[in-house]
Amino acid sequence: MTVKQEIEALKQAIHQHDHLYYVTNSPTISDQCYDALFHRLKQLESTHPECITLDSPTQRVGGKVDERFKAVVHLAPMLSLDNTYNVDEVRAFHQRVLRGLPGVSDETIEYVVELKFDGLAVALTYEDGLLVSGATRGDGLQGEDITANLRTIRSVPLRIDSKSFSRIEVRGEVYMPKKEFERINAKRVEEGEAPFANPRNAAAGALRLLNPAITAERKLDIFIYTVGYLKGNFFQTHYEMQEKLSELRFPVNEHNRLCKDFESALVLIEEFRGKRNELNYEVDGLVIQLNSLAHRKKLGATSKFPRWAVAYKYETEQVVTEIMDIVCQVGRTGSITPVAKLKPVLVSGSTVSRATLHNEDEIKHKDIRVGDQVVIEKAGEIIPKIIRVIESSAGRRKPFEMPTICPECQAPICREKSEAVWRCVNSSCPAQLKERLRYFASRKAMDIDHLGPAVIEQLVDSGRVKNFPDLYSLKMEEVASLDRMAEKSAQNLITEIEKSKSAGLSRFLNALGVRHVGQRTAILLARKFRSMTKLKETSYEDLEKTDEVGPIIAESLKSFFDRDTNRQEIARLRERGILMEERDDEKTGELFDGRQFVLTGTLSRFTREEAKEKIESLGGRVTSTISKKTDFLVAGASAGSKLEKAQELGTEILDEEALQKLLESGY
Ligand code: IVH
Repeated sequence: MTVKQEIEALKQAIHQHDHLYYVTNSPTISDQCYDALFHRLKQLESTHPECITLDSPTQRVGGKVDERFKAVVHLAPMLSLDNTYNVDEVRAFHQRVLRGLPGVSDETIEYVVELKFDGLAVALTYEDGLLVSGATRGDGLQGEDITANLRTIRSVPLRIDSKSFSRIEVRGEVYMPKKEFERINAKRVEEGEAPFANPRNAAAGALRLLNPAITAERKLDIFIYTVGYLKGNFFQTHYEMQEKLSELRFPVNEHNRLCKDFESALVLIEEFRGKRNELNYEVDGLVIQLNSLAHRKKLGATSKFPRWAVAYKYETEQVVTEIMDIVCQVGRTGSITPVAKLKPVLVSGSTVSRATLHNEDEIKHKDIRVGDQVVIEKAGEIIPKIIRVIESSAGRRKPFEMPTICPECQAPICREKSEAVWRCVNSSCPAQLKERLRYFASRKAMDIDHLGPAVIEQLVDSGRVKNFPDLYSLKMEEVASLDRMAEKSAQNLITEIEKSKSAGLSRFLNALGVRHVGQRTAILLARKFRSMTKLKETSYEDLEKTDEVGPIIAESLKSFFDRDTNRQEIARLRERGILMEERDDEKTGELFDGRQFVLTGTLSRFTREEAKEKIESLGGRVTSTISKKTDFLVAGASAGSKLEKAQELGTEILDEEALQKLLESGY
């Protein structure tokens, strides 16, 4: 290959990865790999400058602007940071800084070290204290107007108290907390959608939704790290500027550190390495930057990077382990997912013993076999992922073969042309049935307490429950005869099942598990059509016209109701007394929709009774003990052990002000 050809190939590859990363939010290679490609291209271009063209990725800052959002020209370019991967490279950076500041002695150079958050850079502009615009980074010069979506982030102040700044633009990183990422992914899996690969992608997806109400449901957060534009010289140092940002109530990260010299900045690299897994957000490195703004000005920037800052990237921890077995799991929709059982190992702070292999193609592509030594890492530090098989000598087992029949019910399995997954064709497959029952009973659906996986397993395996209607014919003696089921618990379960009959249309619709119809769609449909009879009779065209219901959902509903088995099942459920209308008193879909609150400490704005009444009037529930099921703890003054417990469980904690805002403004 000639140099010219290699340059062409690199440009094409980088363009493609830029597109995957910036436009479709689905990168396929690591940052390190990308940087290596970029570095190689730069190297070749520097020795062959005649080959540099305007379309080279080295000649521009970033990706493309999506046309759905209005373009916003940044008040000052949003640069990015040069990456380093080891201490020597950071030292080289410091040497460059020293050379660029002749006459300044090494000992007087201060640095600020910050966490490098793995999210999306945004710019927020305030005019006369009011938030007027929020934009993505885009290509660095021009981004997308996502003001409406950014406003939904609760830590973004809508107004700041800035008498001296008529116009200020601040910059920060929007991210999805790890806990929220797990919650959303679990929900997506339940609703038959593909989970996000990592919190960054989930945040990117949420920021670019055209409906801000849905963005608001995905609890994004932000750290503001700098001022991007402000006329006049208000600060001498970065640290001072951040103190002002905090004072203006911007969320500035608590771990930022001022270092009196370069060596103490280096110490922090090691200190943070261990800490980063303990944080509730993704951190992919550190930002090391000069503190003095005068020094920054002197050093300036290249077309891409400032010369006064550098990123230190932590390598993603990779560990080698062995594939003990590959098993196939059957999901609620019959999807058959191969899962690797691994010899347990510690990776990025927790023990990993299984990893999804996604589908047959993935296994073939990576040639993963039982007995192989594999390199694993946690994608986005959360989801275990098999990166590759370590080259092994002879004696490997045979390649994995997808089963030809369902591992649970032995029915045939099939794969549609457009899909990567195989599905069991038997709609009464016990494994599918168990998953569907689990979903049916879940809190967002029929909310049947005490009907957990162990009970479902026994009910299905003993043949007592073959479908949803069977649940409603269960006798007390049958339930009491199950393993480890005391009479009292059996009674509780029967009562709960009985109670669920009046859950109302929206819950029932969600519980049925129609593909693409999750909780939110079920609520919208129930509100509009009010009864199952009406919904069943609605034409495809009318369904499609419903708010947020497009052709995919309309089609899915129609084919669900067209099936005899489904119609019969609904008729049998009706006979057993399940309410098929939306309840008038039903608070489903309202602000608090069944969310559980616990009140603790002394409240001053409301009495306990008032708070309880308000929460309940909006569909929430108030309970007295805190558990995994609690959604919010409202903590008044001198809150004690409940507050501690909530912190331990990661329950969202509200002070009175936050509760009041929530009650007034909507969730
Ligand atoms: S300062 C001139 N501080 O990293 C750029 N950036 O590679 C100054 N980032 O686009 C950026 N955490 O999205 C800065 N504490 C932090 C950061 C941070 C994450 C991101 C930011 C930027 C990218 C640069």
